[in-house]
Amino acid sequence: MKKVLDKLYKTNSLSKDQLIYILNNLDKSLQNYLFQLARDTTIKIYGNKVFIRGLLEYSNHCKNNCMYCGIRRDNKNVDRYRLSEEEILLSLEEGYKIGYKTFVLQGGEDLYFTDDIFESLILKIKKQFPDVAVTLSIGERSYESYDRFHRAGADRFLLRHEVANVQLYNELHPGMNFENRKNCLYNLKKIGYQEGAGFLVGLPGENNEILAENLIFLKNLAPAMVGIGPLIPHPDTPLKDEKVGSAEKTIVMLSLTRLLLPTALIPITTALNTICEDGLERGLMAGGNVVMLNLSPIYVRKKYEIYKNKETRDAHELKTIEEKAKNVGFVIDMGRGDNINFRRNEDGK
Ligand code: 5AD
Repeated sequence: MKKVLDKLYKTNSLSKDQLIYILNNLDKSLQNYLFQLARDTTIKIYGNKVFIRGLLEYSNHCKNNCMYCGIRRDNKNVDRYRLSEEEILLSLEEGYKIGYKTFVLQGGEDLYFTDDIFESLILKIKKQFPDVAVTLSIGERSYESYDRFHRAGADRFLLRHEVANVQLYNELHPGMNFENRKNCLYNLKKIGYQEGAGFLVGLPGENNEILAENLIFLKNLAPAMVGIGPLIPHPDTPLKDEKVGSAEKTIVMLSLTRLLLPTALIPITTALNTICEDGLERGLMAGGNVVMLNLSPIYVRKKYEIYKNKETRDAHELKTIEEKAKNVGFVIDMGRGDNINFRRNEDGK
């Protein structure tokens, strides 16, 4: 078994069967060995840095009906909001003053935000904050729309694949399909975004084979970023009676992802931090190297409840992150934190 892990460390590649074998046979001591290999890999490539992002949840309106998500269309208990352009720019300004150099705009798939509205918003953000990286997390759109946003200055795009098993994906996402998700991800890549994919751990119907399929999908796509988080059942969704995804399994998946994709930027996700007090430290010790803090106006935060008791950290809580990171030998980095395959000059050119 140790041999398989060593092979993964050296070659950054394994077959689906080998990944299933690891997942079926990992004991505590091998797990620690796996985490150590993942951490070594991260440090070799990015150093002992945690890259910091500012997250702005601009709208909780959504046309989709994902079975696990608290802001799904059919949840009538959501107090829906949508930030104005002015509110968005003011929130970002606040983050900019603290020193943030990456803004992540995240929202439900809200049809109010037409391509024209996004394009003009991105142009304004890039004009006002030229040295900042803009990341979109706005869901599925056409190749042409993605291309327009990229031309307007969007640098990165997060679109988790959620689960790389066609049947399970289609069951959990009524009205959507895996083929389309996959096309979106390949389109984003072709256009030149630093893109982020990723999946949920603990979905009903999941097993080690499906988890291995997620890893193989990621290996083939080779995204610049990967977000992995545990399922946290939301009481107003069809998955309300499911169990919370395992923090340990999430971290194992994070470390395997690191070894398969050594240059990926991998956040220690908000969901992991929500179910696990020392999630940040454990994630850093196992190959994670990004943290997202919340820039959304306080008055909308409770409303962006994709899962129960979502615990984001405020953008001002950098000191807490700094201390926790320091305890495990990491330092925070407030730069743009581009993927090393996309590094540019300091002036943003
Ligand atoms: N638990 C954990 N993660 C969730 N997401 C949505 N709903 C939940 C939930 N109940 C994740 C999805 C999405 C990301 C923004 O939030 O993976 O891509």
